[in-house]
Amino acid sequence: MKNDKTKTDKMNIYMPEHVGIIMDGNGRWAKKRGLPRPVGHTYGAKTFKDITRYISKQGVKILTLYAFSTENWKRPLEEVNAIMKIFRQYLHDALTDFREDDIKVKFIGDRSAFDEDMINLINETEEISEKRQGMLLNIAMNYGSRDEIVYAVKRLCADVRDNKLSVDDITHEEISARLYTSGLPDPDLIIRTGGEHRLSNFMLYQAAYSEFYSTDTLWPDFSHDDFDKAVMEYNKRNRRFGGV
Ligand code: FPP
Repeated sequence: MKNDKTKTDKMNIYMPEHVGIIMDGNGRWAKKRGLPRPVGHTYGAKTFKDITRYISKQGVKILTLYAFSTENWKRPLEEVNAIMKIFRQYLHDALTDFREDDIKVKFIGDRSAFDEDMINLINETEEISEKRQGMLLNIAMNYGSRDEIVYAVKRLCADVRDNKLSVDDITHEEISARLYTSGLPDPDLIIRTGGEHRLSNFMLYQAAYSEFYSTDTLWPDFSHDDFDKAVMEYNKRNRRFGGV
């Protein structure tokens, strides 16, 4: 495969620089066990922590996890409340979590929809972890890529209106610079658990040339081996970026 990224000497494989994960299957995982759906989210949160640590140790530089979409509010109120409870709990842990792993935590998406205490915790977590040197973890919460693109277009229009940019100066780079992922390279590999083969409004602009990997494994069961398998598969891909 064509890739100028770090080759890990131990296993002789290329680690993707930026990995995105669509964490799907919590509800089905619970249903299979005769448990209420929120229990699946509780187990999903455990997997989230464990997999994040594992991936950071593998040398991945950026990990973007899709935790809650702009469409997820349509779920039954009881489930949304249960998910918010898990997020709130996680945000309390996040202040100290991943410190030993030197992981920098950022949140992408529209945080204004969350309760004030959650917004404060989100801001505080970002501030506390800002100087860390290890992997960057982006948690996509109330994230929707179409909204992200609308937001970028509005900012571009405002810059044109204010004479900071001319219409002719609008390039891919200028658009990318106004997305939530501004300044970051596009994801090399996007993994989706739970067996579906779609992006579900996740990084639509950034995923133009990402390698997509889908596994039937439900998110709470996603293991270190599952991640290794995704990376092995990624290593077999021939990335041409539209060339030959
Ligand atoms: C997908 O499973 C999961 C979600 C929509 C939301 C919650 C995600 C977590 C709790 C992961 C942990 C994240 C953090 C930041 C603590 P689903 O409910 O769509 O599953 P289904 O497809 O089986 O119904």
